[in-house]
Amino acid sequence: MQPHACDQTTKPDLAPCVIVIFGASGDLTSRKLIPGLFSLFSQGKLPRPFAIVGCSRTEMDDQQFRMHLEKHCHDSVAAMDRWHDFAQHLFYKSVDYDLHHFRELAAYLEQLDQQRQTGGNRIFELAVPPALYPVIGDLLGQSGLADEKGPDRGWSRVIVEKPFGHDLESARRLDATLHNHFNEKQIYRIDHYLAKETVQNTLIFRFANTIFEPIWNRHYIDYVGIVAAEELGVGSRAGYYDQSGVIRDMFQNHMMQLLVLTAMEPPSRFDAYAVQDEKAKVIRSLREFDREAGSKLCLGQYQDGEINGKKVPGYRREQGVSADSRTPTFALMELYIDNWRWQDVPFYLVSGKRLPRKETRIVIQFKQVPHRLFHDVLGDTINANRLVIETYPEERIRLHFQTKSPGTAICLRSMTMDFAYHEHYQGKALDDYARVLLDCMAGDHMLFWRQDGIELSWAFLTPVLEECEKCSCEDNGLSYYPAGVWGPEPAGDTMRLLVDD
Ligand SMILES: NC(=O)c1ccc[n+]([C@@H]2O[C@H](COP(=O)([O-])OP(=O)(O)OC[C@H]3O[C@@H](n4cnc5c(N)ncnc54)[C@H](OP(=O)(O)O)[C@@H]3O)[C@@H](O)[C@H]2O)c1
Repeated sequence: MQPHACDQTTKPDLAPCVIVIFGASGDLTSRKLIPGLFSLFSQGKLPRPFAIVGCSRTEMDDQQFRMHLEKHCHDSVAAMDRWHDFAQHLFYKSVDYDLHHFRELAAYLEQLDQQRQTGGNRIFELAVPPALYPVIGDLLGQSGLADEKGPDRGWSRVIVEKPFGHDLESARRLDATLHNHFNEKQIYRIDHYLAKETVQNTLIFRFANTIFEPIWNRHYIDYVGIVAAEELGVGSRAGYYDQSGVIRDMFQNHMMQLLVLTAMEPPSRFDAYAVQDEKAKVIRSLREFDREAGSKLCLGQYQDGEINGKKVPGYRREQGVSADSRTPTFALMELYIDNWRWQDVPFYLVSGKRLPRKETRIVIQFKQVPHRLFHDVLGDTINANRLVIETYPEERIRLHFQTKSPGTAICLRSMTMDFAYHEHYQGKALDDYARVLLDCMAGDHMLFWRQDGIELSWAFLTPVLEECEKCSCEDNGLSYYPAGVWGPEPAGDTMRLLVDD
């Protein structure tokens, strides 16, 4: 098969710019942002000229900042050579979050623009705790750093990390603060799941082929499963996680994006606005969650257990988690989309920590054949077709179907057509953070959330969060599971449908 000769990651000529990272002494910067930018630099994909300015309260000079980041980017000798060139573009400015420091920062960036010819174009990445998003948004506005001189020259963009608020109200407040100084086109709300190749490929798979779309509906599909399982526990994020739980951490953003990509109608054009419109329609069509009307939700929390032969502590024994915490670390939701395409097809969304293995997949389970032609010879054993779009551990798509086993007797064999995403691609795949940063430089909103989607998602999940909150003061509602199994017992039957192929 002829591979298509286009490099999907090449962007049209990017304008020079300065990327300012707030929270530059932190985990996200050293683990994701700088390695992502370094890999873009190594592949010649960053604009020229460019500069990166790290900002946080910790006192450091440029040299110390470069040394602090170096170890995170050295995975080969070739990388060490390139690092030296890359590091010349890294700067550090210590800031406190007040107007005086932001005015100083504005003057510093003016100077850097002149030295480096970066054209007054700036990206501000908020890699700080969420409480600082509105504070920094305000300070950028008050110090004039949000102002744009023109759409092509002197632009200003802000990248906001998840979580976008803690609930509907706080999401609206954050948005209002940002909109005091930035217009919607200047705001980029990151969901790095969207930058994963197989997640994007879901749209291409559905809408660049004719054979799947006619059967992608209630007439042929029995149920859809979306699974984001993690082997790890809460780790060093206990402070944040114990306040948030699995619904805020995974469902409001990543799970909702996987759901809308699977269920949306084809957009009229492949541009950010048209795609976001279709996504919003799906969330708007979700059947309201109402326990009394039969909506199903299973919440769980992991206890002591064993994963890969190693004993691991239960959630309440993790450092930073209160000993009587009732925060859910597992949720299984059954959702329905009330529209022409999906009426009465259950969508099972599952995410949890300390499950047997890390796995992210979308399962499309097709219906049984309408007439059991082989019933007399085979009984009821014909497996229905199943399509699995897997993002982790490998990026691949598998289609399970039936064939005849060779021989005189009628015996079926379940076979799998298997497509490994990177098998026929020689280039270097972009890491998800590199991808979203590149898109922001190009002014492309396709992989980012739009505010209406965020608000619709919070509005839908509000009664679910209320259910979780109930669970934190009552003794029922939360089930427990030992680390290393597929969630609590009440979720068992559904989990077997979704993780066993
Ligand atoms: N880490 C990840 O993988 C990840 C993934 C997705 C989203 N996010 C989001 O990205 C953001 C940054 O994550 P992170 O893991 O890098 O956070 P972090 O390491 O906890 O914090 C980043 C930096 O923010 C500064 N900071 C911390 N508390 C502060 C406070 N109260 N006031 C002012 N500055 C403070 C610290 O720098 P100074 O003390 O030097 O100022 C710290 O190094 C968070 O909103 C997180 O939710 C992170």
